[in-house]
Amino acid sequence: MKLRSFFLVTVISFGIMGSVVSADVTKGQKWYTKGCKSCHGTGTKGAAMHTQDEWDDLFANGGEKIIKAHANDKSAAYFNSDDFKNRAKDIRDFLFEYGSDSGNVPAC
Ligand code: HEC
Repeated sequence: MKLRSFFLVTVISFGIMGSVVSADVTKGQKWYTKGCKSCHGTGTKGAAMHTQDEWDDLFANGGEKIIKAHANDKSAAYFNSDDFKNRAKDIRDFLFEYGSDSGNVPAC
């Protein structure tokens, strides 16, 4: 009986973790639409700019490379703001989920 309830708890926690992951992707899509779409187009286009490995690289070290890529652009202030810092992980999750080699296509 004990083993059975442990199994149930495990299944339930995985369910919760699963929904947290997809919430990040949904949030990331929202931040992308707000912060990136005006320059890089729809989420489909934006995420397809890079493969999943490349997105990992661009967002490594708190987004060092993606911040650098915008250093001479008018969006630089956004990339150096707390807004971006707080959202970077969600944006990365969204772009990674739909990276050019992911086989996934977002609805926006
Ligand atoms: C105000 C316009 C603007 C906004 C907003 C903006 N970008 Fe950019 N982005 C640029 C420009 C300009 C470059 C540098 C020129 C280039 O490589 O296209 C660039 C470069 C990049 C690059 C590297 C270049 C490449 O092709 O790999 C990536 C990745 C990128 N942007 C993603 C994003 C993401 C993600 C967001 C939102 C968090 C964003 N950008 C917001 C204008 C913008």
